[in-house]
Amino acid sequence: MDIETLKNTLLQRVGESKTPNEILKAAEFRELYAKIPTLAPEERGPFGRQVNELKQAIEAAIQAREATLEESSIRPIDVTAPFDVNAKQPTLLPSENGTTHPLMQEIQLVSDIFNRMGFVTEESREIDDQYHMFETLNFPKGHPARDDYDTFMTIETDKDGDPLIAPAHTSTMQNRTLVKYRDNLANDEAIAAIVPDRVFRNEDLDARHEHTFYQVEGIYVAKGVNVGNLVATLQAFLEEYYGRALKTRVNPFYFPFTEPSFEFSLECPFCEDGCSICSQSKWIELLGCGMIHPNVLKAAGIDSNEYTGFAFGCGIDRLVMMKYGIEDIRHLESSKLNFLRQF
Ligand code: FA5
Repeated sequence: MDIETLKNTLLQRVGESKTPNEILKAAEFRELYAKIPTLAPEERGPFGRQVNELKQAIEAAIQAREATLEESSIRPIDVTAPFDVNAKQPTLLPSENGTTHPLMQEIQLVSDIFNRMGFVTEESREIDDQYHMFETLNFPKGHPARDDYDTFMTIETDKDGDPLIAPAHTSTMQNRTLVKYRDNLANDEAIAAIVPDRVFRNEDLDARHEHTFYQVEGIYVAKGVNVGNLVATLQAFLEEYYGRALKTRVNPFYFPFTEPSFEFSLECPFCEDGCSICSQSKWIELLGCGMIHPNVLKAAGIDSNEYTGFAFGCGIDRLVMMKYGIEDIRHLESSKLNFLRQF
């Protein structure tokens, strides 16, 4: 189809659409852009200009169409509608004061502890792109570890044509946090941030696995940071959170975005010899952690020869389960009042 015919087709589509802005994402536009690099160098300029003119014409038509749609959605108010000031008031349902959900209470506590240790708190998001979920975390396209994350994806795609993702871990915020605070480093200040928020995984559910749960990400970058700093920070946080000395275990593990990587476990508080909650292992895995991979620092514009850092991602539901002896994670999101009223 030549550009003039395409313009008429798209203008007609805009005129009929209730969501005209969507037409900018039409496959025809993508095909035009994809064609530019395949043309002979001297043809690229004129063709690119034609595509631009087409886009500007469609954008102008979209604006006009949106204005028309908005106008037609304004309904006149009917001032003659009957209104009886003496009508009987509806009976309100009995109510009682609500309380903060236990997970929210504990997130506040976790945040307070880290804030006192000098970490700022950042928020995550509930939809993200593959660039932040994978690329910036050193999982290039086709990396087998992408499959480990059991992600939920949307039908909508990002600018690269990849489906958007409900974040499967708070690590999707690593790149944004590093970029936001990287100027700290030039001022001899560390980057120290936590991100407590909700994550989603297409999991088989059991006493320890939910499809929707909370994690707290920790990120610390400065000069000369080492594994000892990582372990000491986590041990100090956990002992403050549980209010007692703890037995913890650090095992080597693999994450593409940390090197070396570890898994941090707490001794199972529910048994002495193994039980179904700890899968007979006597330990409950609480978090993944490690030294931030140089490629992750580089993706955020940080010189990995000068600075090092650690990161961790801890399951908040599991922290809370162990604190209160909750034997099944599914109680937490169940909305059962007899469970929630205990907190
Ligand atoms: C991660 O999600 C990594 N992003 C952690 C990390 C961050 C590593 C920074 C290195 C640096 P993992 O998939 O192991 O790793 O999950 C981390 C923690 O989330 C687990 O230890 C566990 O406490 C919790 N978790 C994982 N899956 C579930 C689930 N389905 N239900 C409840 N908690 C879960």
